[in-house]
Amino acid sequence: MPATVVIGAQWGDEGKGRVADWLAAQSDVVARYAGGDNAGHTVYVGEQVFKLHLIPSGILRDQAVCLLGNGTVINPVNMVKEMEGLRAAGVDVSPGRLLISTRAHIIAPAHIALDAAGEKARGADKIGTTLRGIGPAYTDKTNRSGLRAGQMADPEAFADALYKHTGAANERLVRDGNDPLDPQKSAEEYIDAAYKLKPYLADTSAYLNARLREGAVILCEGAQGTMLDIDHGDYPFVTSSSPTVGGALTGLGIGARWVDRVVGVAKAFSTRVGSGPFPTEVEGELAARLRGTGENFWDEFGTTTGRPRRCGWLDMLILKYARDVNGFTELVLTKLDVLSGLPEITIGVGYEIDGTILDGIPVTTADQMRVKPVYETLPGWDEPLGSARTWNDLPKAACAYIDRIAELLEIPVNTVSVGPERDQLVQR
Ligand code: IMP
Repeated sequence: MPATVVIGAQWGDEGKGRVADWLAAQSDVVARYAGGDNAGHTVYVGEQVFKLHLIPSGILRDQAVCLLGNGTVINPVNMVKEMEGLRAAGVDVSPGRLLISTRAHIIAPAHIALDAAGEKARGADKIGTTLRGIGPAYTDKTNRSGLRAGQMADPEAFADALYKHTGAANERLVRDGNDPLDPQKSAEEYIDAAYKLKPYLADTSAYLNARLREGAVILCEGAQGTMLDIDHGDYPFVTSSSPTVGGALTGLGIGARWVDRVVGVAKAFSTRVGSGPFPTEVEGELAARLRGTGENFWDEFGTTTGRPRRCGWLDMLILKYARDVNGFTELVLTKLDVLSGLPEITIGVGYEIDGTILDGIPVTTADQMRVKPVYETLPGWDEPLGSARTWNDLPKAACAYIDRIAELLEIPVNTVSVGPERDQLVQR
């Protein structure tokens, strides 16, 4: 089994971190291929809770080498902070254990300021970004005006480049009525991080290909989700990278021939943070019930931003779309335990628009905003699921729900999570 890709099937926050942590136990290398510290992967290990934003969840499995591929965008200051937090918790984040692609792009201070300025300018039409500078960093990448991680190999020259980058961005910021940044301060902040990250720089594509040739097992860890993909998501309410399967190949520099398992991860219901269409969204008491109170870290509040997540029923048209775009070979269903106690479980199985029933998602986001879901209802179950460890421990109604999803998707659903802890993963 050379390479497995883990991909979110909805709008992010599906529980990819815990699934990646599970698969990482059998992997030699865990590689993040897209996005930056806009992600928030929570992994629960015994008494410890790790909230990872940039570093792959595989870092919590001792045997795995972890890397950030060329498709990622890196805020060096936040990366160093995340490494320090891990180190303080006893996790090995030494060079060699963790690699950074020289081709990854840098999130500069100006990118963060431009992200905020862009959202302010959009007003009511804002995307609801995480304000981590993701969009502006990828914009600079495609505009061929970005800064690459490899430039940190010469921290002094990197600081000069940052100084110039901030100066150029200031012209835009001021023109649009925002405060300029202090180029000197920006450069100073980053130079220290550059010295610290320099030993981690590597040609990660060459590394991965060499490891694949010698038979290593690689886990490609996605961030965000299919519906946030720059090409395949609800544009413009998307992130600026490719969380889908193509992004794994481009974002790591490996060939398609190595990938033989594509694991989709979906929550047993749906959530979304930020703006954009969400046909099966619910409100009021039910939304509050699905979201949780916020007392538990696994309640539906953003790991990166703390924002309450929008909640709704499972949407099979979204999952079918994600299956097709990514070629899922299986689906892992997370947070099944949250549905215990609901008298009925509802699944979105189609859409209606202008009196027509659709069995796939419309091509325009404007139409996706207008569709009304067509629902199917299944019996709920009362039993809490947290202590289930085998398939036989699951109530019949919960099994029927899982089986219906697998039937509609026509791919296996053989793994479900029933709580945040490592052992709360049940396999058929
Ligand atoms: P950006 O990635 O910060 O530019 O945000 C673009 C959109 O993607 C916004 O709706 C964010 O809320 C959403 N987003 C970005 N990263 C994540 C994530 O890790 N989980 C869920 N939503 C995300």
